[in-house]
Amino acid sequence: MIRAVITGSGSALPEQCVTNAEMAKRVDTTDEWIVERTGIRQRYIAAEGETTSSLATEAARKALEDAGVDASEIGLIILATATPDHTFPATATQVQANLGCRGGVAFDVQAVCSGFLYALGTADSLLRTGMAKKALVIGAETFSRILDWEDRTTCVLFGDGAGAVVLEVRDTADDGPGILATKLHADGEHKDLLYVDGGPSTTGEVGKLRMKGREVFRHAVVNLADVLKEVLEDAGVESGDVDWVVPHQANARILDATARKLGLSTDKIVVTVDQHANTSAASVPLAFDVARKDGRIKQGDLVMFEAMGGGFTWGASLARM
Ligand code: ACO
Repeated sequence: MIRAVITGSGSALPEQCVTNAEMAKRVDTTDEWIVERTGIRQRYIAAEGETTSSLATEAARKALEDAGVDASEIGLIILATATPDHTFPATATQVQANLGCRGGVAFDVQAVCSGFLYALGTADSLLRTGMAKKALVIGAETFSRILDWEDRTTCVLFGDGAGAVVLEVRDTADDGPGILATKLHADGEHKDLLYVDGGPSTTGEVGKLRMKGREVFRHAVVNLADVLKEVLEDAGVESGDVDWVVPHQANARILDATARKLGLSTDKIVVTVDQHANTSAASVPLAFDVARKDGRIKQGDLVMFEAMGGGFTWGASLARM
């Protein structure tokens, strides 16, 4: 059976770590409020010179090293971001240039916090149709650059970072490794609940993130539970067989609520939101890399990735390691 198999992972964070106590010096908030409502304790914020492409390149290099793959072997780079270095060219092409692997396919996908799921699903499809043999799938963001640092309801929630995986086409046994099922969705009805109030074709400015958090929360729990069920059904897997869930890290309470809805034990959920806050498209591959490198996620494990973000967009993907 031809499948796309995850053979390596890597991640990168900016140098500067900003605690909740430090956030409380910038806006009217407290460590207690942030921890209680979100589970976030700190976030990493990119300094001048640290960009989406620089973080993405570092994560990609580590993923290649982990997989034992040379950059020259990579025929496809898909980078998920809502905070590209430039409107164009695609940040993926900058990463390609940094890695020195010219000539293959490289493009960005934009599905905000679900971006990594969209990129993974797209790469899986392209690899299985023979477009390339080895791919880099990257989620990378510098959300700090689109935050309104005077709006305490949003600026405390986000951070910067990048995560990457290497995908390779393999002919595997039925119960062998690879991506087993992916489901992606979008519903543009709810744009006003989560969006950036600028853009090249509207205001001509980059704009700032705006969010009605409580309503986003409500949609997130319902949509995520639905798509997780869909993927389990498609793969013919019971929720009890899943070894690890690597969710988008927006809010510890969303993670708990989603797990409860599915009857999943919370100790199977990889949580990094306390350390990284919400890094949008970077959060799933960042959390995945943390849990692989600390030995929680092992060869043979069934791992569920899931995310929901602006659009709304949402999706889930089940893979055997
Ligand atoms: N510090 C202190 N008080 C605050 C802060 C803050 N940083 N922010 C808001 N408050 C106050 C509000 O002003 C409000 O005060 P009031 O009652 O006097 O009016 C009170 O806290 C409660 O505000 P709510 O917004 O109702 O708080 P809620 O419990 O809903 O928590 C939160 C807010 C954390 C944003 C939550 O709704 C949430 O996590 N939503 C999901 C957001 C999310 O996941 N977004 C990412 C989606 S992914 C993407 O695509 C980017």
